Amino acid sequence: MLKHLLQLSDLSHAQIESLILRANELGKHVNTKESSNNVAALLFYENSTRTRVSFELAAHQLGIKAINLDIHTSSVKKDESMIDTLHTLAAMGCQYFVIRHSESDILEKIVSDLAHTKLTSQCHFINAGDGHHAHPTQGLLDMLTIYQEKNYSQESIDFSRLSVGILGDSVHSRVAKSDIAALKTLGCKDIRLIGPEAWILPAMEGVSCHTNYADETILEGLDVIITLRVQKERMAHLDVGLLNEYIQHYQLTPQRLKYAKPDAIVMHPGPINRGIEISSEVADGPQSRILKQVHNGVLMRMAVLEAMT
Ligand code: CP
Repeated sequence: MLKHLLQLSDLSHAQIESLILRANELGKHVNTKESSNNVAALLFYENSTRTRVSFELAAHQLGIKAINLDIHTSSVKKDESMIDTLHTLAAMGCQYFVIRHSESDILEKIVSDLAHTKLTSQCHFINAGDGHHAHPTQGLLDMLTIYQEKNYSQESIDFSRLSVGILGDSVHSRVAKSDIAALKTLGCKDIRLIGPEAWILPAMEGVSCHTNYADETILEGLDVIITLRVQKERMAHLDVGLLNEYIQHYQLTPQRLKYAKPDAIVMHPGPINRGIEISSEVADGPQSRILKQVHNGVLMRMAVLEAMT
């Protein structure tokens, strides 16, 4: 029996021996096939509510243990590298690594640096949002939401008849890039980026750019409007003049929403800046599907984890 464990000089030879023999015995059982593929480490180097909690709930639903590493109290604060942290967690049995980071492309770099190691052959890496590069599970849950709202009766998914507007700061948005990639793959032919020139992605194939807020046809015919968070935290310098101009000319208000189709749905990945990119009336209004997206986040993350098992 052990009441407390404060220092080893408090323990007798028998107590130490008993612990060593017991741990050795446990080691013969815990590394079995049944106990593997069963632990997900959530490493959020950048803040999150939706993604982190939904991955935790998704893992729970699938019987996978989710370990939330609190970066601020972890050895990361003692300068442990991410690669060493990953090896450490893998040595404790983690097979899934769900990682959010402020640095773009960091997941690709890690997977490439670790290529042909035990870590990549035995573990799965999931990008939970890296800088302004990509947020694939958000892109997938957004597609699920559009499918449920606009494409449900069809057996195979085909977005070729849909018009989707992506409104706001697409240049700093990882969600916009993931949504565009998925929309194009699913056949969407009318993807409109809308916003001030300074915040809009450069023109790309299959995507039109609209920077003239006075053009009332910008929102005309849209089935889906994805509003984006103004990513203040990813801007080297927030131009307050531009922000005010944005609020005045681009904010999705009930008046502007009227230009889209009457049954258009409004989406936003969250967290929302009420009164900046979207008015509360629209965010909480009948066309908003923002909370449906949140609900779908758990389902899509379950589907992603399940696809890896
Ligand atoms: N949409 C999204 O990634 O939200 P969180 O930052 O709360 O995870």
